[in-house]
Amino acid sequence: MTSLWARYALPRLTDLVMRGSAQDKERARFVPLAAGTVLEVGAGSGLNIRFYGPAVKHLYALDPSREIWRLARRRLAAANFPIAYLACSAESIPLPDNSVDSVVSTWTLCSIPNPHAALREVKRILKAEGRLIFVEHGRAPEPGVRAWQDRITPLWKRVAGGCHLNRKIDDLLLEAGFRLIDIDREYSEGPRIFGFLYKGVAGTERT
Ligand SMILES: C[S@@+](CC[C@H](N)C(=O)[O-])C[C@H]1O[C@@H](n2cnc3c(N)ncnc32)[C@H](O)[C@@H]1O
Repeated sequence: MTSLWARYALPRLTDLVMRGSAQDKERARFVPLAAGTVLEVGAGSGLNIRFYGPAVKHLYALDPSREIWRLARRRLAAANFPIAYLACSAESIPLPDNSVDSVVSTWTLCSIPNPHAALREVKRILKAEGRLIFVEHGRAPEPGVRAWQDRITPLWKRVAGGCHLNRKIDDLLLEAGFRLIDIDREYSEGPRIFGFLYKGVAGTERT
């Protein structure tokens, strides 16, 4: 998308919406689990940076939107590890096989056009003992909420940077061959169609 909306307004709006205290609570719980060489997919405006702990040696921050990554600039100073920005889609990650210890994905799998391809890539670049740490929103358990998610997604994804409200994140992970080591499925604050979270840690089937 190259419209003015997608290019200029959406990155700023995303940054604003993603800065909430409810999101920070999840970031504070999950992002510190990352260690070693880390890839963050859909790094956005760098809102996770201040939550990484001392075990991180190097961060690859991947996001196809240079505009949103530009908003991360003032947050980079909080990091005491090197950060390399990768301006590309998670469907094709320019890193070697078995080269990354942790992958972090927060509120991103909803927006990737082909999440199956992205998860295949994540699995490829993770080391055998590597971990995928995720906080994602997606398909709700109640049929009534799900029906609204299905109804609204076709319009919503056009204005919200490709965001799908109705992806079943645990199934996507399992289909990609991940093992769910730890997963919580619950609502966060706010409207239920946006707020059903899948959060936890997954490993490759090799471990
Ligand atoms: C809702 S934002 C979340 C940003 C950040 N992860 C956070 O927690 O604040 C979704 C992000 O996914 C990114 N994104 C969209 N398509 C993508 C793709 N194909 N590969 C990787 N990231 C993508 C967007 O540019 C945006 O930064």
